Amino acid sequence: MPSPALPRRRAAVIAGGVAVVLLVVAVLAARAFRATEAGASFIEQYPGAYATPEGTPDGFPAWLRWTHFLSAFFLLFIVSSGLHLRRRQRPPAFVTRRREGFLAATNPTRLGLHSWWHLVLDTLWVLTGLIYVVLLVASGHWARIVPTDLAVIPNAISGAIQYLSLSVPRGDSWFQYGSLQQLAYFATVFVASPLALVTGLRLSPVWPDRWMRARGPLSDTAARRTHSLLLWYFLAFTLVHVSLVLLTGARSNLNAMYVGIDDASSWVGVGVFALSTGVMAAAWVLLRPPAQIAIAERVADVRVMPAAPKRG
Ligand code: HEM
Ligand code: HEM
Repeated sequence: MPSPALPRRRAAVIAGGVAVVLLVVAVLAARAFRATEAGASFIEQYPGAYATPEGTPDGFPAWLRWTHFLSAFFLLFIVSSGLHLRRRQRPPAFVTRRREGFLAATNPTRLGLHSWWHLVLDTLWVLTGLIYVVLLVASGHWARIVPTDLAVIPNAISGAIQYLSLSVPRGDSWFQYGSLQQLAYFATVFVASPLALVTGLRLSPVWPDRWMRARGPLSDTAARRTHSLLLWYFLAFTLVHVSLVLLTGARSNLNAMYVGIDDASSWVGVGVFALSTGVMAAAWVLLRPPAQIAIAERVADVRVMPAAPKRG
């Protein structure tokens, strides 16, 4: 009997092939459009970015660089615990908050280790996000990632055509982001993240019973589906974002976001980025379930499950 994985693998190969063909067609179409007079004058009129409102600060202050790093750091663990939860395997331990002492709960719920770890990291991620948004608004930096002019739409289209025709739109993100970048950052910070928070809270034990609904966007099924879809959004965003950061002037981009300097030739940003990636990798290795259990035991009651018997 053919394995059930085979048709799925075949469908994935066909979908991949179709995607590559569509991409090649889109690249050829974008290049052909730019070669026409109308195409060239559209790109001339809308170069891919528009001026931010007067008084918007430039650059990458320390609070922005630190909250960006911490957010990516916490997301690594949020995504991995989310992937564990999706597999619905028996967790290696169960965690129940205590009824007295630090972090006490009056009516504690027993959580699987992965759910507990997911919620701990979510709390840190949301706190980091709140600090970032408050400082974004207070400093005026918000106007760098919130569209302030309808010109964002033709400029984003122009940016997409330029990327598709395999050239990088002119512009310097030290002073302003490209419109396509602005829309992607806005969607991530002000749409995807709050949606992850609301649907995640809906799935968590803190959601009040009287707000439970059998149907609609906050029903169990819809909330779980939206929450899972957001995982793919965050993964796709990160893949495209990091690829573009590295392919469109890596030294300049990394100097800006990791050191806070406007410099296209220094290698210091590459060094700090490499160091930060090393820190993430080390934390990834150190904070596996045994370490998560050790942390949980400090603040809650933990029941470690015996290892599942090996099959075969
Ligand atoms: C912002 C705060 C967030 C909260 C409060 C939250 C909370 C939750 C809760 C309560 C669950 C269900 C756990 C269970 O079934 O026991 C869950 C599942 C999950 N979360 Fe989150 N989460 C948040 C953010 C995120 C983010 C940003 C991602 C992805 C980038 C993510 C990915 C997932 C995935 C993939 C699952 C498994 C869904 C499934 O059951 O198929 N979560 N989350
Ligand atoms: C760890 C790999 C990452 C690197 C190397 C990186 C690098 C950068 C750089 C260089 C910028 C400035 C853009 C530019 O100069 O063109 C930036 C901005 C940004 N990144 Fe990342 N990033 C990473 C991961 C992430 C992740 C995981 C997220 C969220 C899912 C994220 C969200 C953002 C946002 C929202 C901005 C705009 C921030 C603002 O100006 O307020 N980044 N990133």
